[in-house]
Amino acid sequence: MHTPVLLNEVLTLLQPRADGVYVDCTFGRGGHAQAILQRLGDHGRLYAFDRDQAAADARADLLADARLTFTRTPFSAARTALEAAQVYGSIDGILMDLGVSSPQLDTGERGFSFQHDGPLDMRMDQSCGETAADWLARASQSDIEQCLWQYGEERHARRVARRICDSRTQAVIDSTRKLADLVAATVPRGEQRLHPATRTFQALRIQINDELGELSRTLPMLRDGLAPAGRLCVISFHSLEDRIVKRYFRDSARPIDEFPAPSRPAPCRLVTRKSVVPGDAECAANPRARSARLRCLERAA
Ligand SMILES: C[S@@+](CC[C@H](N)C(=O)[O-])C[C@H]1O[C@@H](n2cnc3c(N)ncnc32)[C@H](O)[C@@H]1O
Repeated sequence: MHTPVLLNEVLTLLQPRADGVYVDCTFGRGGHAQAILQRLGDHGRLYAFDRDQAAADARADLLADARLTFTRTPFSAARTALEAAQVYGSIDGILMDLGVSSPQLDTGERGFSFQHDGPLDMRMDQSCGETAADWLARASQSDIEQCLWQYGEERHARRVARRICDSRTQAVIDSTRKLADLVAATVPRGEQRLHPATRTFQALRIQINDELGELSRTLPMLRDGLAPAGRLCVISFHSLEDRIVKRYFRDSARPIDEFPAPSRPAPCRLVTRKSVVPGDAECAANPRARSARLRCLERAA
């Protein structure tokens, strides 16, 4: 099961209209999508995207709804489908609920979690790209160190990278268990509240799926696809994502005469000056919500 995070807050910000056009960039298990569909009338439309085929497979019930169009693609490529549907530039609300879904994390074969043994895959789209095992087998020690430091904020990045490179000369690191054990044996114990492999797994997942690059490339495309008074909501789960969203939203909300004349975007305003976080009850019911932060930008009317 995937429980949608900050659902009431998202609906309050998006205020779906019965005949509105909405976009869910991260369909996952369709929790947010289902709630949006419930608010749409016959003429409302929801365009949903996910790069993971398992997302679509798990929600055949929702995909049967004629008001929903699902496209399996990275959200950075969503513009093509939105233009083909002739809704780009007239979207009333967009949601990005970043990161991985609970089923992705909980399915050992997907290789996202150190809590379940499985092949070290970590690709959200298993039809293309390099697995985490393949990347770890070929990357230089300094690239691995850089990845762990930058995307995992792992203080022991150098030590872990060295250990990975030493260890791969003996045997391939092709399972989540092997990697988790290797990191646990390398990072000093007792220093962290988290499992010692948490940061390494986060870093590799971000690297393998180019998560920050996808986000940075997609935000301008989504902003420009909004209708006047349309809103873009983004839920992020770690500071690296949230920093990109916060900066981009702030920058978009600058007075319009601060942008160079030939390429001025539509004026925007910050709907959320501070990020919206889940309340105690939601965190207690769904511990994965704890690190969620929601921000919203509106295109001027
Ligand atoms: C946190 S889950 C979304 C959960 C969903 N809101 C729900 O209520 O079920 C994130 C989903 O976004 C997808 N995803 C992450 N990055 C993506 C990207 N760049 N392009 C398309 N889908 C992406 C993942 O495959 C995952 O299914």
